[in-house]
Amino acid sequence: MTLTEEISKRRTFAIISHPDAGKTTLTEKLLLYGGAIHLAGSIKSRKTQRHAVSDWMEIEKQRGISVTSSVLQFDYGGCRINILDTPGHQDFSEDTYRTLMAVDSAVMVLDAAKGVEAQTKKLFKVCRERRIPIFTFINKLDRYGKIPLDLLDEVENVLGIRAYPMNFPIGVDGKYLGVYDRQKNRAELFAEDTTHGQSERISEIFAPDDKKFIKKIGQENFDALQDDLLLLDEAGEKFDKAKIDAGDLTPTFFGSAMTNFGVQNFLEEYLRLAPPPAPRLSDDGIIEPNDEKFSAFVFKIQANMNPAHRDRLAFIRICSGKFERNMQVWHAPSNKIIKLAQPQQFLAQERQIIEEAFPGDIVGLFDPGIFGIGDTITDAAHKFKFEEFPTFPPEKFARVSAKDTMKRKQFSKGIEQLTQEGAIQLFYPVGMGNDSYVVGTVGTLQFEVLQYRLKAEYGVDVLLTMLPFEVARWLKFEGGEKVTPATLRGANRGMFVTDRIENPVLLVENEWALGWIRENNPKLSMSATPFEN
Ligand code: G4P
Repeated sequence: MTLTEEISKRRTFAIISHPDAGKTTLTEKLLLYGGAIHLAGSIKSRKTQRHAVSDWMEIEKQRGISVTSSVLQFDYGGCRINILDTPGHQDFSEDTYRTLMAVDSAVMVLDAAKGVEAQTKKLFKVCRERRIPIFTFINKLDRYGKIPLDLLDEVENVLGIRAYPMNFPIGVDGKYLGVYDRQKNRAELFAEDTTHGQSERISEIFAPDDKKFIKKIGQENFDALQDDLLLLDEAGEKFDKAKIDAGDLTPTFFGSAMTNFGVQNFLEEYLRLAPPPAPRLSDDGIIEPNDEKFSAFVFKIQANMNPAHRDRLAFIRICSGKFERNMQVWHAPSNKIIKLAQPQQFLAQERQIIEEAFPGDIVGLFDPGIFGIGDTITDAAHKFKFEEFPTFPPEKFARVSAKDTMKRKQFSKGIEQLTQEGAIQLFYPVGMGNDSYVVGTVGTLQFEVLQYRLKAEYGVDVLLTMLPFEVARWLKFEGGEKVTPATLRGANRGMFVTDRIENPVLLVENEWALGWIRENNPKLSMSATPFEN
């Protein structure tokens, strides 16, 4: 198969949703249809992720499961599908944002009874900014929910994206009999599910004017369906592939992941309409996926997946060319040639060593500590860097030290490694000895995760004291004078720290405090992220 053929069969996407809308169940059903698992239910344990911290940690203990399920690959209908997991909890947003940088489209799952929820809105916004196509699956149609037309309105009004219903429920709320496929102009009625969604669902297909169809659903349901379809045709959005590709129109499917109602149809239509791997922007112009020269970027790093081996995996998304095991590539940040040994891919529950991969694929690389989030790797004959990853300013801060000072070495090692994974940012208090750090995060849950992982993976109990700051500013004086607690007027209004490479940073309680500092230090520049040199 040529490179272009390999690329055209790939679909790389993430499923985004508010916790509980059914992301896990839908993923599981897609795997079921893809033949990657035989009986639904085998990735059920993942669902504890959405509950309290302790459950998430239980899952984290079984790292194998949590990580293998964060990237899944399977084949269906001639396509190779890569699904990237996005943690649903809001405190994981940074990780989620990065994952969304690695996909070509997204599937948004809504609970039909709840509509558009808070977390969906946030995730949607990121997809919208990237202008990737978004497909909507309105789930839980097997039970009572909001009226289908109202749900479409809600998507349009709350999210500001046009919705084109690909299918429409037949029957009355809570007792839908099937869906009417507006593309194929046919009705699909679902047979009674006797397996609670454990196996693929058999459906009966009818032409819209088939007498048997009318008899089966009843005249009243038939008339109501005709009214709805007419309304959608006349007043609704028109199907427009160009708008879908631009992320301006979301093809919307009704179904129920649990009972497999509409899932197969969704999968097939999705694969037909979703884009193959897209070109990417770099500092050397646009990089086309079928460029023969290999390129990829790191979007996720995960350490200690196997506690017995202390391994660290860097997940790369391939953007162009062909990946081969043991190939030599140029690593942009270090400007070094490195060998990509032990590449791993994830098939349902298993990890396996792979020999080759193509644009759109995700590969886990054994990482001896060289990779960072956002790093570009390319063929040595064509060196460039992909566009920067967005960084998120930390908003919560805590002082962290080891309870047992004898364990300082493990503590430092652990905390530095977790920093490289990108979940926390590390700061160094100025003039306060070197046995404690200040950790900044986007959400508070990360502190608990940090505490837990330092204990579980490095055997260190930590003392954690929350600090009353919510704003971090990197500081620079015009003219080049060094910013220190002595040269900065009002440094005592916050906490003076430095980042990893000794840039001065001030932590303050709120934006208001910044006003005072700005007024009293006329030559000072402040930035929510590190200054570019
Ligand atoms: P998430 O990953 O988005 O957080 O959601 P998940 O799939 O874990 O689903 C959340 C709950 O919603 C689960 O119920 C799941 O069974 C249920 N669910 C998912 N899809 C459907 C659907 O199409 N119809 C209905 N009625 N329910 C659905 P639970 O009570 O938390 O777990 P369980 O009792 O099913 O094990």
